[in-house]
Amino acid sequence: MSTESSGKVKVGIVGAKFAAKLHAESYKRTQKAQLVSVADIDEEALELFQSDFDVETTYSDYSDMLKNEDLDVISVCVPNFLHSEVAITAAQSGSHVVCEKPLATTVEDAERMVKVASENDVKLMYAEDWVFAPALIRATEILNEGGIGDLLYLRAKESHSGSHSIYAKKLEYCGGGSLIHLGIHPLGFALSLLGDNIESVTGVTTGGQADNLLHGDFEGEDWGLGVLKYSDGKVAQIEANYVTQGGMDDVVEMFGTDGVIKVDLTQGSPLRVFSQKGLDYTVEKAKVKSGWSFPAIDEYSSLGYQGEIEHFVNCVLGKTDLQKGVRGEDGLKVIETIKEIYNAAETGDQSI
Ligand SMILES: NC(=O)c1ccc[n+]([C@@H]2O[C@H](COP(=O)([O-])OP(=O)(O)OC[C@H]3O[C@@H](n4cnc5c(N)ncnc54)[C@H](O)[C@@H]3O)[C@@H](O)[C@H]2O)c1
Repeated sequence: MSTESSGKVKVGIVGAKFAAKLHAESYKRTQKAQLVSVADIDEEALELFQSDFDVETTYSDYSDMLKNEDLDVISVCVPNFLHSEVAITAAQSGSHVVCEKPLATTVEDAERMVKVASENDVKLMYAEDWVFAPALIRATEILNEGGIGDLLYLRAKESHSGSHSIYAKKLEYCGGGSLIHLGIHPLGFALSLLGDNIESVTGVTTGGQADNLLHGDFEGEDWGLGVLKYSDGKVAQIEANYVTQGGMDDVVEMFGTDGVIKVDLTQGSPLRVFSQKGLDYTVEKAKVKSGWSFPAIDEYSSLGYQGEIEHFVNCVLGKTDLQKGVRGEDGLKVIETIKEIYNAAETGDQSI
């Protein structure tokens, strides 16, 4: 493996915009990885990425990057519909794969990804950052030590005012609307916490375009709710919407027989600022940055990106095994469940 010469994991990233920067900064922070190369079809995105991260090589065609470079791991940071193609090509070239959420836009593609990774003896690592968010790790510890008794009900949501990515507007590119794009995080966390012993799945969503609450230009839903009933009686409610102004709003609540845990992942900063002029940045997706705000301290850490990439690098170095919630098969289960929620919303039937 190429790590032998430098001692560092050699990384290539496909896609050079928003998610790519989350990965690049997180790899840098591990100090155990070397960002070697990046590929994007957008020349301007490549130039901006290069100026921020100083990679050795850039490519407009990711398959050239895979052919020419000796890379231990590839981060897949392209739009959803390309995840399976890029991940499969990378796995076939012998690199381990970190794949952004959702693992794929269809269950069939996700199954193929898991199969090809296994056939090529490489790791398929599913980048669900919530599993590594420090507040959720602490909440899970409190739950596991019995701090709120037995868990009865989990309510979790991600919401903001609409994806920045042009690809998120088309069903063909995204695989759905707010549920597959945002709800995937609370759902991924719920499955990693509660397991997948689900008895029934129900769902309700807006209908896309003119049937949306706000976003007529989005083919997928801009509001969606999934309810999972577990065989032991527990209930998990997953919500995702694009109708929340004021910055990303990620909340998890756990209701137990003897207590409650509330986690505010994005709006609960200990920092409070009043600025007449306005700040450069407060919290992801916030458009108004003047007046009173609660700026995030460090979203790489608080949203789990840093911990997630650290874990993946340690897995590639053989120091640990992939943890539950971020294995390829966990990403597959999340897609299966999202599709069951969509199916239930469409047909009005409970699935399973
Ligand atoms: N975990 C998270 O919190 C999180 C946050 C944001 C995005 N994401 C995920 O990351 C992925 C990328 O999202 P983004 O927000 O960075 O989108 P984006 O639109 O900002 O960037 C996608 C990039 O991929 C490039 N691209 C498109 N086709 C390509 C190809 N064939 N080869 C190489 N590059 C290509 C585009 O030119 C663009 O620069 C999505 O799947 C999204 O769901 C995850």
